[in-house]
Amino acid sequence: MRFQDKIVLATGVATGLGRITAELFAREGAKLVVVDYNEAALGALVESLREKGTAVAAVVGDVSLPEVAEQAVARAEAKFGRLDILLNNAGINPVGNIVDTPVDVWDRTIAVNLRSAFLFSSKSIPLMERGGGGTIVTTASIASFKASTAEAAYSVSKAGLLQLTKVIAKDFAARGIRANAVCPGFLPTYMADRKQGASEEQQAMRRKRAAELVPMGREGTYEEIADIIAFLASEQSSYMNGAAITADGAQTV
Ligand SMILES: NC(=O)c1ccc[n+]([C@@H]2O[C@H](COP(=O)([O-])OP(=O)(O)OC[C@H]3O[C@@H](n4cnc5c(N)ncnc54)[C@H](O)[C@@H]3O)[C@@H](O)[C@H]2O)c1
Repeated sequence: MRFQDKIVLATGVATGLGRITAELFAREGAKLVVVDYNEAALGALVESLREKGTAVAAVVGDVSLPEVAEQAVARAEAKFGRLDILLNNAGINPVGNIVDTPVDVWDRTIAVNLRSAFLFSSKSIPLMERGGGGTIVTTASIASFKASTAEAAYSVSKAGLLQLTKVIAKDFAARGIRANAVCPGFLPTYMADRKQGASEEQQAMRRKRAAELVPMGREGTYEEIADIIAFLASEQSSYMNGAAITADGAQTV
C-alpha cells in the first residue's frame, strides 16, 4: 500500500489514463480529490471509488481556469488537511499543423494542456509545503520532444510541460517538492479515437499503424502508464526530480 492515507489531487480522471490511475491510487490506500469537466463520467468514477471505501471529493470544472485549481486545492485542505501528490493529467489533442490551426484552438490547447499544469502546480505547492513536502507528476507525451505530425499545438503544449517540470524541480527541490513527468507513446486511446470520431474500422487501422511504427509491435496500455505515474508519485522514486520517463515501446529510440 504505497499510498496509505496519502492525499492525491488528480486532473483529467473521468476517462482513459486518468481514471485507471485514480483507481490505482485508491487501491493502494490514497484519498483523492478528482477534477474533470466531464460531470457524468466523473460522477461514475466517484461512485465506484466510494463503493470500494475510498474517501474522495470531486470538483467539476475546466482545468484551464484559475478558480477551478484554487477550488480543488481548497477542497483538499478542507476535507483532508493536506496534499501529498498532484497528478496533472487532463489534456486535449486537436489535429492541425500551424497553418491549419485557428488561434482559438491554439490558445485553448495551450490553456488546457499547459496553463492548467502551471495553475494546479502553483496552487498545490504551498499546501504541500505546509505538510512537509509533496510530489507532482505530469502526463506529457513523446510529442514533448519529438514533433508530432499535424499536432502542432499539442506538441508545443507537451514540450512546455517538460520545462515546467524542470523549473518546479529546480525552484522547489530544497523545499521538499519533487516534479517528474511521464511521456507515453501510442495508447489505446479515447483521445485519438474521439478526435477523429473513429469507427471500429478506423480504430483497428490505428492499432495496425501503431503496430508498424512501434518496435514492440503494439500500443501501450493505460495500466502500464499508470504504474509509471505511481512509481513517480511514490517514495520509490525519491531521488528523481525534474525527470521524464518515456514509455513508447522503443518508438523514439
Ligand atoms: N492517448 C494517447 O495516445 C496519449 C499519448 C500520450 C500522452 N497522452 C496524454 O495522456 C493524458 C490522458 O489522455 P487519455 O488518452 O486518457 O485521453 P482522455 O480524453 O480519455 O482523457 C483526458 C481527460 O481530461 C479531461 N479533460 C480534457 N479537457 C479538460 C478540461 N478543460 N477541464 C477538465 N478536464 C478536461 C477529459 O474529460 C478526460 O477525462 C493526456 O494528457 C494526454 O495528452 C495520451
